[in-house]
Amino acid sequence: MKIAIVGNGKIGRAIHEAFRRVDPQQRVSLLGRGDSREALLDAESILLCVKPQQVQGALETIAPKLRTGALLVSVAAKTTLASLRAALPPTIGVVRAMPNLPVGELAGMTALASESAAEDLERSEAIFGAMGRTVRIEERLMDAATAMNGCGPAYLYLIVEAWIDAGIKLGFSYETARMLVAQTMLGAATSVLASEEHPAALKTAVTTPAGCTIEGLMQLEDGRLRSTIVRAVLAAAGA
Ligand SMILES: NC(=O)c1ccc[n+]([C@@H]2O[C@H](COP(=O)([O-])OP(=O)(O)OC[C@H]3O[C@@H](n4cnc5c(N)ncnc54)[C@H](OP(=O)(O)O)[C@@H]3O)[C@@H](O)[C@H]2O)c1
Repeated sequence: MKIAIVGNGKIGRAIHEAFRRVDPQQRVSLLGRGDSREALLDAESILLCVKPQQVQGALETIAPKLRTGALLVSVAAKTTLASLRAALPPTIGVVRAMPNLPVGELAGMTALASESAAEDLERSEAIFGAMGRTVRIEERLMDAATAMNGCGPAYLYLIVEAWIDAGIKLGFSYETARMLVAQTMLGAATSVLASEEHPAALKTAVTTPAGCTIEGLMQLEDGRLRSTIVRAVLAAAGA
């Protein structure tokens, strides 16, 4: 499958890197603003990776180059399927995707929505499924997905940064603290994905009666971590 990525910013480059890791032989063109559009002529899938306010301008330049039956996947936030569809020939499949930057490490989370043929979603799932996990959602939840998994890595980086600071205060080197925190976060996420248990049950398993974990948890509750996280995600979603 020939693929073109339009927009060589942060997410466009991360997706390009993901394709390289999955299959170095795969033909994937990464097109910046001034680059030739010739690669679009035979591309079967086009990933539109520009900012929301740049989408219409980009579509004007790429729409005339698209081959019949091509699939256009837009990762732009707040850009509806209807507005994409209106700017493209009717033979083009249109899908909205909300990935996150860990696609570059093949550990991405991508939400997908489409109202066109089922095979368009299946092709999109094949693309983003190779870069991590995918989930199908209704388009009305796309802004919510932006706040959940699109923005999500930033929330976790803030937590990682603070947690590393705690480790340094306790006497660990930065490198050791970073490893302790990042692998713990990866392990906890792996347990959540692998287990049928609710996170509350997983937390209970770590929390020895009268032990030190409950001391830490009480501080997090006193700091209103739960409501802070809920409010942060709602704010990002504009809810
Ligand atoms: N960053 C994330 O974590 C993330 C995650 C999920 C979804 N997204 C979505 O992805 C989109 C891009 O985000 P980003 O963070 O990658 O932004 P970015 O770093 O600003 O990248 C956008 C890139 O597109 C280029 N561009 C603009 N118009 C173009 C055109 N007509 N043809 C080719 N390239 C063009 C821009 O070039 P100039 O610099 O010259 O304008 C820029 O290099 C946004 O809509 C965002 O909602 C981002």
